[in-house]
Amino acid sequence: MDCRQYIAEKLAIDGFDAGAVAGYIETPPDTTLGDYALPCFFLAKVLHNSPVKIAETLKEKFVTDEIITEVNAERGYLNFKIDRKSFANNLLSDIAKKGKLYGSDTIGNGKTVCIDYSSINIAKPFHIGHLSTTVIGSALCKILRFLGYRVVGINHLGDYGTQFGKLIVAYKLWSDREKVISGRLKELTRIYVKFHEEAKLNPALEDEARHYFHLIEQGDKESNELFDLFKKITLEEVDKIYKLLNVTFDSYAGESFYNDKMAAVVDELKEKNLLTVSDGASIVNLSEYDMPPCLILKSDGSSLYATRDIAAAIYRKNTYDFDKCLYVVAYQQNLHFKQVFKVLELMGRSWAKDLIHVAYGMVSLESGSMSTREGKVVLLEDVINKTVEKAYSVIEEKNPDLRDKDRTARAVGTGAVIFGALSNNKIKDIVFSYDRVLSFEGETCPYVQYTITRCFSVIKKAGEPKVFSVPEMCDAEYDVIKELGRFPEVIKSAAEKYEPSFITRYSVDLAQAFSRFYIDCKIACDDENTRNFRLAITSAVKTVLINALTLLGIDYVEEM
Ligand code: ARG
Repeated sequence: MDCRQYIAEKLAIDGFDAGAVAGYIETPPDTTLGDYALPCFFLAKVLHNSPVKIAETLKEKFVTDEIITEVNAERGYLNFKIDRKSFANNLLSDIAKKGKLYGSDTIGNGKTVCIDYSSINIAKPFHIGHLSTTVIGSALCKILRFLGYRVVGINHLGDYGTQFGKLIVAYKLWSDREKVISGRLKELTRIYVKFHEEAKLNPALEDEARHYFHLIEQGDKESNELFDLFKKITLEEVDKIYKLLNVTFDSYAGESFYNDKMAAVVDELKEKNLLTVSDGASIVNLSEYDMPPCLILKSDGSSLYATRDIAAAIYRKNTYDFDKCLYVVAYQQNLHFKQVFKVLELMGRSWAKDLIHVAYGMVSLESGSMSTREGKVVLLEDVINKTVEKAYSVIEEKNPDLRDKDRTARAVGTGAVIFGALSNNKIKDIVFSYDRVLSFEGETCPYVQYTITRCFSVIKKAGEPKVFSVPEMCDAEYDVIKELGRFPEVIKSAAEKYEPSFITRYSVDLAQAFSRFYIDCKIACDDENTRNFRLAITSAVKTVLINALTLLGIDYVEEM
């Protein structure tokens, strides 16, 4: 339970969503006037009254209770005093009661959200560039599910295009079934790179590639078998990484899935007079909207990336009847999505407004990394493995007697990678640094995981909390309580802004509040009541930090 939300719900201001009102509630640094304050200025326009009057009217209506004990209207502000003890008491028992479900909600019940994320390209290496879409998308799935939404996670595979013709040519010339099966993605990358080198000298190879790509499209058995083999190998490889990152999908309908669904799109565009021919290609002119044209068909009649996305959006709407469809894709594709959404709008799809491009920035590696060793691309698997190895050596150094070092290193290492990618506002470009993500100090996953182990060890030594009545609280104690109470709202704003980083940030804030409490207050103190109260705080912190990490797809350990 969050005080702001609680106040906003009690206020129940006509025409305003409680969540929105809660967002306006401030915590004044000087608490003599109140613990919380609502500036009423934003209400003036809609309620056709002055902020001063509004504050007074709201005060009249407000019924105080055991938690909100006092309310005052002052120059356009509503000031609230809360009873910290009953707040703490309600909150701690709420967290203890709800446990794993603390922070969850039903606001999404009955609503469906499709999330297109990770969306890897078949036969191409799974590199560090895919990290953000994978972990942001996965976290959004978990967050929205926690809020009651039905979520459909979709891996819109890049499994269509002339590159598959190239691969078949390369396979026939320089590889074979055995080599591909044993060498896997590395072998596919090797022959793909070789194709490009050779094609520079022998352009006829390009024609041959186009020929094989047409064969795939026409359903030729041999070509499709090869294509399926490449697809199977890629998916098996990435699946290992998805498992490590706790990532799952409900659908793998990729680009080729829409092969037989695009003719209808083209027909409809023609029917609605949206299609024009320019240099032999069919396009939708978007100059009126300050955008370059959206390419629908090439001059040879083959479809494009945008065509498949238009077909995919229509298919998803028909199949899942989504309330929102999110595309977690790098900001480099901003224009692509603006065009696709606009074309759907022009086609008369009123739900085009529910399509949302959740853009994010780039991830690169610090210089001096292994990028040179690996060629141009930095494989995600190598980044994870290296982080896990480094985590292992830190554990080996700090706690050589730890029981399950492998499992701990895996939780810490993969957690550090995920948390690192989710630490910043998603639109920012980030530079990945092994040392930084693995540091035990600062805003990192090991720090949060370590805080959880501290909670476990305190409770193991001092026992589970028993009944208590909330004593007078010191600042350090109350700060933890305040943080604990914020969790449900943090999840909701993370969902609203599509920003899992709100949860990483929050988990660090809570861990820091706990550290101050841990230093300032002796938890296993002699006074039984105080001890039980502090143990209840500790247990609540453990629950909430675990819930936070779980929403991000990160594991915890009890000891490290
Ligand atoms: N496979 C694409 C890429 O790697 C991303 C696909 C994103 N999803 C979509 N519906 N276009 O760039």
